Amino acid sequence: MTEIINMDNNYRESILKCAATIKDGGTVVFPTETVYGLGADAFNADACKKIFVAKNRPADNPLIVHISNMEMLEKVAYIDKDLKEKMEHVWPSPLTLLLKRKNSLPDIVTAGLDTVCIRYPDNRIALDLIDACGPIAAPSANISTRPSIVDSGTAIKELDGRVDIIIDAGRVKYGVESTIINCTVNPYRLLRAGAFTVEDIRSMIGNVYVDPLAKGYSQSSVALTPGLKYRHYAPSKKLFLIENEDDFIKFISSEESREFLILCSAKNSVYASEKPIILGDNIYEVAYNLFYDFRLLDDSEKEYGVIQSFPENGIGLAVMNRIRKASFLIVKDKENIDKINRVLNET
Ligand code: TXA
Ligand code: MG
Repeated sequence: MTEIINMDNNYRESILKCAATIKDGGTVVFPTETVYGLGADAFNADACKKIFVAKNRPADNPLIVHISNMEMLEKVAYIDKDLKEKMEHVWPSPLTLLLKRKNSLPDIVTAGLDTVCIRYPDNRIALDLIDACGPIAAPSANISTRPSIVDSGTAIKELDGRVDIIIDAGRVKYGVESTIINCTVNPYRLLRAGAFTVEDIRSMIGNVYVDPLAKGYSQSSVALTPGLKYRHYAPSKKLFLIENEDDFIKFISSEESREFLILCSAKNSVYASEKPIILGDNIYEVAYNLFYDFRLLDDSEKEYGVIQSFPENGIGLAVMNRIRKASFLIVKDKENIDKINRVLNET
């Protein structure tokens, strides 16, 4: 049985109840500023095992450890003095650090690696909960490979019966996951684009190497063989990304696009053959709506989705990374949109 707790009433009591559940080896779905997390006591291997079961997550995919002060960090990981001083100004925020782990953590949290991801989230409920029972190991709350969960309604729909408590706290602030950097190498290296921008990392912490793969292309997603692609953060319906804006507009105003749910900016919505889903114009709005709208696509009558690209600066890097990873087919610059029809005919 899953208990759903709304924090509007008896805030302190509710936090303590969630904390007691975690201390007892249970699981709690809680909001952060990025996406909902599915948490358990980071020092309790059996409790962490429940996370993998609830999410259907492969055991070789390590969890992020959530902290709410620097003392908690020192219990689980090594951080050098200079970085620690910088992070005192940067945290709480959606920037996760990959650091050398301490052996206090059970192997299941790190999937046996000698590193651990540390996150200090900027959300009141998360911080109060971690204060009361942390550190908390928590991946994103979605079932493995599904889009991350950005609202409590979806959390309840997806996880009712799979966890002990779901905190019902509405929509989260950003809508894309935290940025992860590997701090065990020099220069630091971006592992996942996220809500904390690369521009801010460079100005607040220092140089960080950004691999071209941060954009979200992978060997598999550019391959054109339908069905052979590994997708992540993905809706169940097939999503088509048309990167070139002119081609996108041409497609969404065409007759063929009537089979598709169109996801686009307000600006481009005027070209849509049928009522589109408007992601927003401001890139923060797009981030906020993206995973929510992927789920609207799954719930819609349309068999396919088509989405446009957005500029890749700031949080746009994370937005485009998620869109590409979620896409069944990416139609890149100068490629012909006929390719979509060809692929549809083949499937
Ligand atoms: O915003 C977020 O970071 C959310 C909220 C709940 O905090 N959490 C989140 O966790 O996105 P998750 O597990 O969905 O994504 C963490 C990513 C995974 O791709 C995992 O493989 C990677 O971080 N990761 C965790 N520990 C790692 C490690 N020691 N080495 C390499 N990758 C690691
Ligand atoms: Mg995840």
